[in-house]
Amino acid sequence: MKIVCKLFIVVILFLLKGITMIPVIAKYMLSRSFSKINFTFKPLDWQESDFNGSKFGLYLHVPFCRMFCSFCPFYKVLYDEKLKKKYIEGVKREVKLRDLKGNANWLYIGGGTPNLLKAEEIREILVYLREFMELKDVGMEGNPFEFAPEYLEKIGDAGVTKISMGVETFQSDALKAVKRAKANEHLVDKIVDVAQKIGISVNIDLMVGLPKQSLEGCLKDIETIANIGPDQVTIYPYLMIPGVMADPGADPLNMFKTIESAWDVLKENGYKRDSIWVFAKSNRIYDSAKDELVCDYFGLGPAAFSTLGNIQTVNPPIELYLHTLKNGKRLAFYTQLDENAKAWRAFAHELYKLQLDPEVCDKLPLSVKIVLQILRATGYVKGFNVTNKGRYLVHEITKTAIETLPFPLNKPNRIKNISEYEEILKKVKLQDA
Ligand SMILES: C[S@@+](CC[C@H](N)C(=O)[O-])C[C@H]1O[C@@H](n2cnc3c(N)ncnc32)[C@H](O)[C@@H]1O
Ligand code: SF4
Repeated sequence: MKIVCKLFIVVILFLLKGITMIPVIAKYMLSRSFSKINFTFKPLDWQESDFNGSKFGLYLHVPFCRMFCSFCPFYKVLYDEKLKKKYIEGVKREVKLRDLKGNANWLYIGGGTPNLLKAEEIREILVYLREFMELKDVGMEGNPFEFAPEYLEKIGDAGVTKISMGVETFQSDALKAVKRAKANEHLVDKIVDVAQKIGISVNIDLMVGLPKQSLEGCLKDIETIANIGPDQVTIYPYLMIPGVMADPGADPLNMFKTIESAWDVLKENGYKRDSIWVFAKSNRIYDSAKDELVCDYFGLGPAAFSTLGNIQTVNPPIELYLHTLKNGKRLAFYTQLDENAKAWRAFAHELYKLQLDPEVCDKLPLSVKIVLQILRATGYVKGFNVTNKGRYLVHEITKTAIETLPFPLNKPNRIKNISEYEEILKKVKLQDA
């Protein structure tokens, strides 16, 4: 009898241990499903007109920056007037070659720094896109230094409905440490005021966990931004995506706690929490990551991702992008996502929103449904809502999902035929030199 009792206790302890390990297991499953994704660099010779009229989005990558902030892993090159002109021609060639048609539900113009393009150039691209398809909501990222009032008026007139700008922090030491110029609060206030008067909604990006950034100072940043009153505030924990150059100034738990305290401030100022890091006053949400995770979308420009069903492609860097398009061809990194990776991505997205969609959950495979049930049993999720206790798990899962995303340009070991790719890149660089 004694032995049976002991055995029973051991089994119970084992199960309890297993259950407490669930968050760790969920994180592991997610990063494992991404870690299997490998790309082949190859010509793409299909036309994309099959998507006519169906639900899709568009992303345009504008890779230019005047300075490189050391926290930023996104694909970018130094701004150059001549290269910019070639880039605009390249984008037009790509749109034509891919035979894009139909109704785009959204367009995000991201970067890099899209507002290094003149307002007339933004209009030129939008007019060209509209020759091929309907555009609904148009969002555009940018740097606060390039959003002059006349610029905002012109892009509003060209059809931009929402903008997002990086403020990151007002703390001078932290900005110095990441080699970024400071946008002072008067400049930010003016942009928000002018944009909102024109009917453009504004998101402001802040970051927590930068080197030399004080966490108390982050709360002051939030108070300043809440007083300015943009339509939306996104607070990113510093994400260690391959390609970032600066060390973090805080650990993930303290970054999370700071975001939670920021939420208290934002709540008092009329913001609702739209997802784990996004707080908004209106329904016109600027969240390209959210749309890109769940929709089919065509990515235009160098290094842009596209997701079409199970297929994912990533455009090459700018020199190769321009060269191949000039010759009427497309070369890109190509992969096919397996059902498992797609299911874990969909689940991560549901958690990210903090409110799960019952229809999406219903379609998840059994393995993911079991994890969801255990999250419910352990109090991380109640019904279809992430609980207060569950928010740290979601913070961790989203961080892991983004940090393990397979960017082939940042992670060359993800390219199966890397030597072939490097050979082509070298040839093109020599030819264009
Ligand atoms: C691609 S950047 C474009 C913003 C624009 N170029 C600017 O400088 O204002 C968009 C946002 O990504 C966020 N970001 C960049 N690197 C990040 C990282 N390593 N971790 C978290 N957020 C990051 C920053 O908040 C940044 O404003
Ligand atoms: S944060 Fe903006 S300006 Fe800084 S490197 Fe990234 S894209 Fe360029």
